Amino acid sequence: MKIGIACDHGAYEAKEAIKEMLIEEGHEVKDFGTYSTASCDYPDFAYACAKSVSEKENERGIVICGTGIGVSITANKVKGIRCALCSETTSARLTREHNDSNVLAMGQRTCGIEIMKDIVHTWINTPYSQDERHQRRIDKITEIEQK
Ligand code: RB5
Repeated sequence: MKIGIACDHGAYEAKEAIKEMLIEEGHEVKDFGTYSTASCDYPDFAYACAKSVSEKENERGIVICGTGIGVSITANKVKGIRCALCSETTSARLTREHNDSNVLAMGQRTCGIEIMKDIVHTWINTPYSQDERHQRRIDKITEIEQK
């Protein structure tokens, strides 16, 4: 799968660990930065990653900051993006099945790196259910986005 990944200084270690894991597993990973622990602004990186998903350059995106909140707010401003902030695997599974989320947000300060790797596995490998009721709700979100 083609996956974009981005972080700020508060999640650089997690981004590197998750990127390495995904590459080892055979995914094609595009790294949108940041590339060090030097202080930076999370919207710059989260936006670039989310935009690549919106423009279909990547199938999915993963955005990480200290809490995951700033990057998720940013990603959800981009048209066509359904970004889910997850800190455990049940939400990761359900957001794929119910929301067909295409960007995953996590927080390095609020979630351990091993747990984040499990969340990523679950989120990457769970298909969208395609149930009529879930599609109807997603279509309503899309309609709101177009207002
Ligand atoms: C950076 O200090 C911090 O604000 C950021 O990583 C994130 O937690 C924002 O939501």
